[in-house]
Amino acid sequence: MIKKVHLIAAARPNFMKIGPLYHAMKSDVDLEIRIVHTGQHYDANMSDSFFTDLALPDPDYHLGVGSGSHAEQTGRTMIEYEKVLVQDRPDLVIVVGDVNATVACAMVAVKCHTPVAHLEAGLRSRDRRMPEEINRVLVDSIADLLWTPSEDADRNLSEEGVERTRIERVGNIMIDSLEMKRRAIESNQIVSELNLSERRFFVATLHRPSNVDCRDKLSAIVEVLVDVAKLAPLVFPLHPRTRGALTEAHLLDRLMRVEGVYLLEPLSYEAFMRLVMAARLLITDSGGIQEETTYLGIPCLTMRENTERPVTISQGTNKLTRVENLLEDVVHITENSEFRRPVIDLWDGKSAGRVRSSARRFLGLSDIQGVGASEPVQSAIG
Ligand code: UD1
Repeated sequence: MIKKVHLIAAARPNFMKIGPLYHAMKSDVDLEIRIVHTGQHYDANMSDSFFTDLALPDPDYHLGVGSGSHAEQTGRTMIEYEKVLVQDRPDLVIVVGDVNATVACAMVAVKCHTPVAHLEAGLRSRDRRMPEEINRVLVDSIADLLWTPSEDADRNLSEEGVERTRIERVGNIMIDSLEMKRRAIESNQIVSELNLSERRFFVATLHRPSNVDCRDKLSAIVEVLVDVAKLAPLVFPLHPRTRGALTEAHLLDRLMRVEGVYLLEPLSYEAFMRLVMAARLLITDSGGIQEETTYLGIPCLTMRENTERPVTISQGTNKLTRVENLLEDVVHITENSEFRRPVIDLWDGKSAGRVRSSARRFLGLSDIQGVGASEPVQSAIG
């Protein structure tokens, strides 16, 4: 009997995770895949462009939840998703990452006795001031199947008392997206369009509430970025939260006047990854970018007190920093660091196949020989 699977996507970092999964699962004759877009991110450049770049079809369901406080977003997502779930009755709900919809949809499914699998399970920053940390802890405590990216995530779950049988290490799905799209990324023209030279510019992305919601902190960050841009051009695609905060604090004008700062709208996946591949270093507070830079061997300075992705520091190119040290760190890296590509177990572009095999086993379907764990998602769509 065909098993119905819901893939839940809500916000920008989710789309790269469901992309390879959709492509790995859609060709499986035993599975019927339905994409549910909750609508947490809705702008063309925060959502639609990712569906286009990742060759994803229009979502089967669009919940239109939009923006709001955490309670509003989470509550509205639960109300809307419950209607879909009760009507469509999936056999498995797959949630990814750590956004509000991840925990909202997991809660709805579990209470309707529908199995839930969490992709990117087990990551912990141990910083409960981060909304994403709360989402991570909650979803992992209720999901039936926990797909982890790395050994530290397995350990975190075991320490929280999660039974070993619920945990399966599948690797890092973001690397699948990158490899799936590598050809298209490498032929993207953004570097020449902006008149930049390979390895002679920096890229910054910031959107965490801890960096952008406090006016004094944001103002201090802006002043350091102005100094950083004196060393080399600084490309800064603005997340809507960040643009809003800069505008409100009258800091947008300040940045716009600085030569060497390129303020851009949020970029498509292909254009952004092209910039990452060509950059001298990244300055970020994103989760995913810490992993992508590690995989590509590009130095990354993360403007946070902690990270839920410690493997990017212990084995990768990532370093935590703070506003007081940022300029010094940028100078140090620019003058000293060599590029090196670490090899991290199961960050190999084959995670989607492993997820699919695991989902089949969980749903009581036999493993397909020759397909699955060893198969990378084809880069043909690139
Ligand atoms: C959310 C996630 C975060 C993720 C980030 C990636 C949570 C708790 N946070 O944070 O984990 O790293 O997405 O981008 O789920 N907005 C737009 N257009 C959009 C989307 C948002 O203008 O398409 C505006 C909203 O009106 C709001 C702000 O951006 O004012 C923040 O959006 P929101 O989804 O609340 O949180 P993010 O900061 O994007």
